[in-house]
Amino acid sequence: MKDERQKKTPFFTKLKEYGLSDITPFDVPGHKLGRLSNDLLDFIGLNTYLLDSNAPRGLDTLSKPTGVIKEAQALAAEAFGADHAFFLTNGTTGGIIAMIMATCRANEKIILPRNVHKSIINALIFSGAVPVFVKPDIDNNLGIANGLTFKSMKKAIDDNPDAVAILVINPTYFGLTSDLVQIVDYAHEKDLLVLADEAHGAQLYFSDLLPMGAITAGADIASTSMHKTGVSFTQSSILLTKGDRIDLNKIQSTLNMIHSTSPSALLMASLDVARKQMYFSAEEEIKRVLELKKEAVPRLNSIRGVQVLDESYANERGFLGFDHTKLVIKVSELGLNGFDVYRALKDRFNIQLELAETYLVLAILTMATIKEDLDRLYVALKTLSDEVYDHYDELKKIKFNYTFPETFVRPRVAYHAPHKIIELTDALGEVSAESIMIYPPGIPMLIPGEIITEQFLEDLAFYEENGSVIFSELNNGKIKVIDKDNWDKLEVYIDEL
Ligand SMILES: Cc1ncc(COP(=O)(O)O)c(C=O)c1O
Repeated sequence: MKDERQKKTPFFTKLKEYGLSDITPFDVPGHKLGRLSNDLLDFIGLNTYLLDSNAPRGLDTLSKPTGVIKEAQALAAEAFGADHAFFLTNGTTGGIIAMIMATCRANEKIILPRNVHKSIINALIFSGAVPVFVKPDIDNNLGIANGLTFKSMKKAIDDNPDAVAILVINPTYFGLTSDLVQIVDYAHEKDLLVLADEAHGAQLYFSDLLPMGAITAGADIASTSMHKTGVSFTQSSILLTKGDRIDLNKIQSTLNMIHSTSPSALLMASLDVARKQMYFSAEEEIKRVLELKKEAVPRLNSIRGVQVLDESYANERGFLGFDHTKLVIKVSELGLNGFDVYRALKDRFNIQLELAETYLVLAILTMATIKEDLDRLYVALKTLSDEVYDHYDELKKIKFNYTFPETFVRPRVAYHAPHKIIELTDALGEVSAESIMIYPPGIPMLIPGEIITEQFLEDLAFYEENGSVIFSELNNGKIKVIDKDNWDKLEVYIDEL
């Protein structure tokens, strides 16, 4: 039975009313609700500008909600089965930084997989928490890192009785989910908080055909990108909490440190409306999309050189569940790598995939996916396969050995340590002072404090050759490393941090 109260969109409704109220605006934003025409306004229309206001009186305040934002957040919490929800206007990134800062003090330990998103590494720098990185399941045949199984998380918890929190990724970018109920129960038994990165998990709360959301499994707090696998505007996410282990005031005050004092009303309205839409329609729409996928997968698998990963992959790797909205396609047997296919699909067929890895590509399905999308993907992959399958040799085995470099100092120490900039060609054995990753997925190959290995340098060169977007502080073959000649200063920093 659906709750009729979820039909309300308190923030969006009030915002619309305000925009249409013929207000005389002597406040910011300076466009004064779209008074002056410009190229953007001409394209998107006046209504968007009418909603871009920042009027605390009547429209409530994100930093201390007491009115329509509070009401909208409460509806969101209920829709997700959480106790509290905080709207985020700087993505799950903001939620992750706030949840780690608010739960782990400097020098307290947090257990987490090493293949976390860069926002988590940055949260460790902000908070000073000490990461206990656990090696995730690594599949060298596919060249990907998966998540943590209960077994590996349990071992890490047992080995670190002084840790205060664990962090789980639910699901991983490639859709794998762990036995969260077991992990959460064990962590709680040992008095640890459970934090979840659910950047790819908003849909899990709205369909029984998908694995469980972290909050449903009992996690204390989860940062959830409504904009990725839900249907809200880019950059809008929700931070969810459950139970009484989390200090809500601390979360709010930490969010207030991170958020702009002028959060986007458009993004908040988008969250309000997306929550309603997902509450009432996601279940049906996801069912529809999964049926489409069921029809599409055998067709895709019939293409020579193409293979879609399914739940059996997750189970073989020791994971409990698989998020079927992820369409993970192994393409290496075409004789092409994932990057070639990603580029070809975009440049020749106008198909934008989510990401490429060496051996595979990832397409994300959401409640807004339609049959034509999958049909076009089939035609494009079939065309590529017909062109190349008989002509290419097996893909030259890339010396791909998914390893993570060793930690020399933790990210916060490396961030504060004296630095120098050197050529990448001289970097072997140095300690990085920056994060380097390909984007997407934004999971750092190297983080501040890790020792630069030959493997890292080779992998980076490989990604560069393949035209991946590399996120790093510097370009032109340079890298920021710890300046060991000033190591004595670093000792001071270590004591202080
Ligand atoms: C696993 C993971 N965590 C966190 C984030 C950050 O999310 P957002 O883009 O909503 O800030 C991302 C974004 O790509 C991600 O993939």
